Amino acid sequence: MTTADHTRQLATFGQNDDFWLFGYGSLIWKPPPHFDERVPGYIEGYVRRFWQGSEDHRGTPEAPGRVVTLIDRAHWDTLTDAHEPTERVWGAAYHIPRAKVAEVREYLGCMLMRRHGQTDIREINGYSIQFTPFIPSSSPSTPMQTLVYIGLPSNPQFLGPQDPDALAAHILKSRGPSGENRDYLFQLEEALGGLGSGAGDAHVSDLVERCKTLEAKAGKGVTVAEADGEEAGKKNEGEGLKKVGSTEEQEEVEK
Ligand code: BEZ
Repeated sequence: MTTADHTRQLATFGQNDDFWLFGYGSLIWKPPPHFDERVPGYIEGYVRRFWQGSEDHRGTPEAPGRVVTLIDRAHWDTLTDAHEPTERVWGAAYHIPRAKVAEVREYLGCMLMRRHGQTDIREINGYSIQFTPFIPSSSPSTPMQTLVYIGLPSNPQFLGPQDPDALAAHILKSRGPSGENRDYLFQLEEALGGLGSGAGDAHVSDLVERCKTLEAKAGKGVTVAEADGEEAGKKNEGEGLKKVGSTEEQEEVEK
């Protein structure tokens, strides 16, 4: 798609009461406001990975957590990754009624920028708006165009390939204003399971398993820091690992 086509699509998308937003991360279990329809299904041509640093929701600027982003499959093919890709990225598409589109775009813009006044520009805090066909699981022969926010490899929070053990350990020790990073990971896995059979993501499930192993070790008199050292071969040496407690201060929105 040319820049001119993208700009045109940005301006006109949803004008015919066909504004569909695709969620592949927290939007799966934390829907946007004002949606009147939620459809489980998938997109193709992308790979979901916990390769985006989170400074404002599941981490802090000093200690960023990890959230998912989508990597274009053609770009992913040029990288070395410990996990195999899934052919489909499952998630949920939300229909936003025309009268509420501006408000929801504002909400999503603020959610990504955490400040008011600048919305729906081509890039928001490293997140880029893309358009991609979405295949509803209930009606695979009728794809629909969806809008999706993606943290591109060019954005400063994009981390690239991560060692799975070190990544799991990092998720366990991270927390931010929206809560524990661990809960984001576990909720994502649970939400994917709720989308239907075959909707799982091996990258997500593998990280959950690694976190459970670390937590089990920690439960047997080994601290998460020690278990992390064993599992990750001290890949995070010097980062001062510790198990974090529950979060009292929750935020309403996050990526
Ligand atoms: C999501 O799909 O949950 C999402 C992704 C990026 C930014 C905001 C939400």
